[in-house]
Amino acid sequence: MITTITLNPMLDKTVHIDKLMRGSIHRATAMELVAGGKGINVARQLKLLGVQSVATGFLGGAVGSMVMDLLRQEGIENEFVQTDVPTREGVTYLESDSTSTAVFEPARQVPVAGVHELNKKFHALFPKSSWVVCSGSSPGSEADDLYYEAVLAAHQYGIMSVVDSYGEPFRLALKAVPSLVKPNKDEFERAFGTSLQNGDDFVKGLHHLLDLGIQYAIITDGPRPCYAAVRGHVWKITPPAIRTINPVGSGDAMVAGILYGFSQGWKFERCLTWGVAAGAANAQKWGVANSDVQEILALEYQIRAQRLH
Ligand SMILES: Nc1ncnc2c1ncn2[C@@H]1O[C@H](COP(=O)(O)OP(=O)(O)OP(=O)(O)O)[C@@H](O)[C@H]1O
Ligand SMILES: [Mg+2]
Repeated sequence: MITTITLNPMLDKTVHIDKLMRGSIHRATAMELVAGGKGINVARQLKLLGVQSVATGFLGGAVGSMVMDLLRQEGIENEFVQTDVPTREGVTYLESDSTSTAVFEPARQVPVAGVHELNKKFHALFPKSSWVVCSGSSPGSEADDLYYEAVLAAHQYGIMSVVDSYGEPFRLALKAVPSLVKPNKDEFERAFGTSLQNGDDFVKGLHHLLDLGIQYAIITDGPRPCYAAVRGHVWKITPPAIRTINPVGSGDAMVAGILYGFSQGWKFERCLTWGVAAGAANAQKWGVANSDVQEILALEYQIRAQRLH
């Protein structure tokens, strides 16, 4: 089983309108609600690939209950810590020409008791897990070290860990040495105060991550080539050319795709091409992290991993 942790989930509302006009009242033509948050996206994609997972993190208030209902409707197994602090909501206004404009509410700090409760949950879930995936932002400073704690607990139970985050939670989690990290270019540059200008810079960046003790390092860059390394091997992988509809969550789909590969016992190189295909499959449609095996396979045929070292 794979445990995904989402510290800062969101009720994701998409409102369809003809055209957005500032200062006007709009009549929506349709509305969709989806349980959002990066670890939840990973869990959704894993479910569609037939990999068992459980999603945890914080949910609170009436919005938190709605997120839980949506998870139940999707059949995504979950064990969230419930707090009194309302889960945030995000609204995306989608115009008929596919232009989208989003407003995300600010997250609210979770209570310290909730932080302790989630930490305890790690110790209940990890003995039953093979991987733990820590994805996305933190709702506030009280929760910033929970990915660090999760990675330490993963070591304690001898399971693998992924950290796909940014800012303080990412910086702290690196100190616990996760098994796999997958920052995008921007997240890497911010975390290490450098600029990745060319392929050599990406490779140097990967070596920096390996030198921290990380086993699998990946740096992505949307539709541009991504780079990946394990000790002794570096790959450059060019994503397939697709018609981009919505790349939000492509990183999450990629993480799920890679873990699907590991669950099949594949070598890392094949996990990577599958992950890149899953990321591209996500970008070519509106829904988030909801591609099936056939859609991913159709794109994987077009991908070759180029061995650099
Ligand atoms: N427009 C695109 N065309 C083809 N492949 C894409 C596209 N966008 C993303 N991908 C694939 O998905 C992978 C991850 O995408 P990206 O670098 O955007 O991740 P991310 O910024 O972490 O995304 P998010 O945090 O929204 O999930 C890329 O390495 C690539 O393989
Ligand atoms: Mg990402």
